Amino acid sequence: MTIEDIDRVAVLGAGNMGHGITEVVALAGYDVTMRDVKVQFVEDGYGSIEWSLEKLAEKGRIEEEPETVLGRIDIEVDLEAAVAEADLVVEAAPERMELKREIFSDLDEYTPEGAILASNTSSLSITEIAEATDRPGQVVGTHFFNPPVKMDLVEVIYGAETTDETAETAHEFVESIGKTPIYVRKDVNGFVVNSVLGPFGDEAGWMVSEGLYDVREVDAAMVFRRNYPMGPFELGDLTGIDIGYHVRKEAGKEVPPITEEKVEAEELGRKTGKGYYDYEDREASETP
Ligand code: 3HC
Repeated sequence: MTIEDIDRVAVLGAGNMGHGITEVVALAGYDVTMRDVKVQFVEDGYGSIEWSLEKLAEKGRIEEEPETVLGRIDIEVDLEAAVAEADLVVEAAPERMELKREIFSDLDEYTPEGAILASNTSSLSITEIAEATDRPGQVVGTHFFNPPVKMDLVEVIYGAETTDETAETAHEFVESIGKTPIYVRKDVNGFVVNSVLGPFGDEAGWMVSEGLYDVREVDAAMVFRRNYPMGPFELGDLTGIDIGYHVRKEAGKEVPPITEEKVEAEELGRKTGKGYYDYEDREASETP
């Protein structure tokens, strides 16, 4: 499969990453089907794309009308129907190895023979995911960052069996949607970015759990003294506290108590209206 062969893309998952990836793929001119397991999930994801496209249009950041971009997006709940004609599938399902392997095994059955099967996993092994298929050479990681519409970087990750042709096509695809790809040739837990971000977030979590500083002090230090766009807690709220939590648990790592507490209380960040910060009083226009 070369970049010229890619016309139709399927994105599995309509959560923050799934709908964001769908949006950037449609903005680049591809036809794309966004699939999730419940109608409510795909409708919510579609609503977030509408919100985001309106915002971008208001600021003159897109050339087409939102409706034109939306016209390239289909929504679906049936997996087979979503991927039957896909040249490239990007899976953005929850971070559980068992679930991803199940999905990839189904993809192997339902997608055209030459299709590339990509995973947006944050840190799970591409090699292990690919082993659930009979085409591990065509399985690759494409790891986007939240929010995909604003974040430029995408890691293109080789599994043990990924062919150069697959990785190069994935790399060209990422360029074709206006993002900057980097190759990650070693399939290590967390790849490059999350290997750095994980300890950054954890260290902050331990400092607060031990009562040395509070959440605002740590975030303010990183933003105002170090010029980071967000501190570690604000970033956790943006990406979803449960995401980092499950990544660490899957890797057998200890999680700071403050993170455990937030997950137990289901205060997972912006998406639940409360996380390390409270978002319930925010203006509706501030967030999708
Ligand atoms: N679509 C359109 N507009 C959006 C939007 C979206 N998806 N998300 C936010 N906006 C809007 C806001 O509503 C706001 O609009 P307003 O000005 O009308 O109120 C505006 O964008 C803010 O935009 P700015 O460009 O001015 O904002 P910033 O410069 O602060 O950038 C940011 C926002 C890009 C999120 C920046 O804060 C940032 O880079 N944060 C760090 C993000 C990051 O590191 N992400 C990676 C997380 S790790 C990860 O994803 C890995 C995974 O495996 C967990």
